[in-house]
Amino acid sequence: MNRIERTQELVGILEREHALSDEALSDLLDILEETGAERTVQIRDAIPAAVCTPEEAVLYAAARKVREQYYGKDVYLRGLIEFTNYCRNDCRYCGIRRSNTKAERYRLSDEQILRCCGQGYALGFRTFVLQGGEDMYYTDERICGIVRAIRERYPDCAITLSIGEKSRESYLAYREAGADRYLLRQETSNPEHYRYLHPAQLSIENRKRCLSDLKEIGYQVGCGIMVGSPGQTREHIIEDLRYMQDFGPHMIGIGPFIPHKDTPFADEKAGSLYDTLHLLAIIRLMLPGVLLPATTALGTIHPAGRELGLLAGANVIMPNISPGDVRGKYLLYDGKICTDDEAAACGRCIDLRIRKAGYITAMSRGDCAGFDTAHK
Ligand code: 5AD
Repeated sequence: MNRIERTQELVGILEREHALSDEALSDLLDILEETGAERTVQIRDAIPAAVCTPEEAVLYAAARKVREQYYGKDVYLRGLIEFTNYCRNDCRYCGIRRSNTKAERYRLSDEQILRCCGQGYALGFRTFVLQGGEDMYYTDERICGIVRAIRERYPDCAITLSIGEKSRESYLAYREAGADRYLLRQETSNPEHYRYLHPAQLSIENRKRCLSDLKEIGYQVGCGIMVGSPGQTREHIIEDLRYMQDFGPHMIGIGPFIPHKDTPFADEKAGSLYDTLHLLAIIRLMLPGVLLPATTALGTIHPAGRELGLLAGANVIMPNISPGDVRGKYLLYDGKICTDDEAAACGRCIDLRIRKAGYITAMSRGDCAGFDTAHK
């Protein structure tokens, strides 16, 4: 069997069974890697960069087919509010790690956050994502107050939190205050690799405990990894796919690792566009109903990265709606895009990119397919 036939066979199994053995997964990843030297198949005329190998074309077409069965042509938007870049952690990859004294720190007030939501709402956003470092200034009481205020003013919107590891009680309190979703990437499921990326105080056990608590409490939960993070191996990636398959998240955030100049990983190389696209497509086939963003990091390593993400099975984009004067300060990695744009301009640019990829900007809450929000 030649490589294209083998790809068709493996993708076929993934499409039908949403599962593949470790060996078969490794085989597929090998083929994608070995055939990646030359890309000649144009998959979308409107996007000149959308060229791939025949093997990738098979994989991406299957991913798009499955995504369309669950979500049609809709791409959901999330208004991302990066409300603090203070962080008590010292993750070796992250630009806002505690020991980066060059990071210019900021915090948004409740009023500033609500103003962002107001602007976002007027632009059509129906999900707000509050993301920040682990900043103890924002006590549970403060977070709950902010969530309650947003919930009261915008009852038709989903509220997503992305504020790191907390106790089960804290997660419960935020949920009761009105939060619907929570993003917390595991970063890597492999304990040794986890220790390599993170300070000694953090552990994969606690990270997984957080994710399980969040799910039990009734959040739509997002996990995920960086692709090509320092020390990551093929085995780690397969371990992550297994973890995600077992855990059953509602959302999966994956993007390439990109070095930040003021971190210990400054001289490491970035994750690759193609490795990220392959994983997006494989994840779409393994967890067909999952919400899968084409991330800002993907848009940072390639000008058409997010469009290519959509063509590989992603169905969410998270434009930044933080106030203009802090945009350039939430720098997890070098070269981050859209730090100068106005929220309105951002919306138009994203809509154009979505249409070019052949999809439609959906201005709804965009809940996970099959998730029961009736109890809300
Ligand atoms: N490159 C790419 N992604 C990064 N993140 C943090 N630092 C980097 C980096 N240098 C990601 C992490 C985190 C998310 C908010 O941003 O995966 O969970």
